[in-house]
Amino acid sequence: RKMKVVVTLNLGPKVMPLLYDHPDLDIVLWPHAGSSGKQWLLDNIPGADGCIVMLFEKVDEEAAGPNLKVVSTMTVGYDHVDVKALTKRRIKLGNTPDVLTEAVADASVMLALMAGRNTKEGTDIVQQGKARTLCWSCLRRPNLQRVCSGQVGHGTLGFIGFGRIAQATLARMVGFGYTRCLYVARSKDPARAADLQQTVKGRHPSLTTVQQVELDQLARESDVLHVLAPGGPETYHIINEEFLKQMKRTAILVNTGRGTLVDSDALAKALREGWLWGAGVDVVEGEPGITADHPLVKEPRCVVIPHIGSATWESRIGMATVAAENLLAGLVGKPMTSEVQLPNVELGIAVATID
Ligand code: GLV
Repeated sequence: RKMKVVVTLNLGPKVMPLLYDHPDLDIVLWPHAGSSGKQWLLDNIPGADGCIVMLFEKVDEEAAGPNLKVVSTMTVGYDHVDVKALTKRRIKLGNTPDVLTEAVADASVMLALMAGRNTKEGTDIVQQGKARTLCWSCLRRPNLQRVCSGQVGHGTLGFIGFGRIAQATLARMVGFGYTRCLYVARSKDPARAADLQQTVKGRHPSLTTVQQVELDQLARESDVLHVLAPGGPETYHIINEEFLKQMKRTAILVNTGRGTLVDSDALAKALREGWLWGAGVDVVEGEPGITADHPLVKEPRCVVIPHIGSATWESRIGMATVAAENLLAGLVGKPMTSEVQLPNVELGIAVATID
């Protein structure tokens, strides 16, 4: 019997042949753009041996069909996958770390600069044809207020989650002149923290401080705060009104992790009332259904981009390749390129992006 594989997105001309040309596979491919939705998955997964899914396909108890051996997600995060259900049925889970690290770190820096330097308001003003009076005559008060912002590049960088992507973001941001790095991470093991801090300081001699802290201190001291931890119930709305109220009025918040970590209404209120300077978000709770009247989209000091952190050719082809490799290895019980260690996840230790 051929093995049935359900694939919810076209992996492109480089990678699809790995599946289509495979003699032992029957491929069922979602034929449209966008997400397949749960019903299509439920209709097709019974009898399937494996599947390749994307961010918005929820693989839960119901969707994990009786013959399923492997779920391969073309993402590094896997909060859309019910790991308990998979563990119970001994279904393997593959993800795609590393190949997207550089792209997401680039996007994090881009958002920090865009938010910090008022880019959204600037492009809006140009598009509305008001730049002559509002910007290009900027030395006249009160228009100065509309164009000027603080200098990005000194003080303290904060990170929620301090895994691979956060460290790659730090490597870029130290070039701007930051000297302190504070982070919040799930692991509270002091030996491990000391080790990590030593390594990071060794890489970046210009940093005077690399320190694991509590959320309150992170909120109070960060000049640019990068959110790069996984989603899921444990990190849900970790950035809420209470957190935002403690931030510096000049601070910038960047979310390239998961939308669920940030309470959008609280962030919109914080920006409106000036509790912080600006925000840049690649991920928003409720995506992909974000429309022009979303409170964050309407905020002039909030840059919203549509989850394109990993969207470079290089990284997406890398992700598609690893997703296919994981699937093929998992189907025949060989070691995957990147397998999520499910028992660890059950104990509450996610190994993907947070340390
Ligand atoms: C994207 O958000 C991913 O988890 O890869």
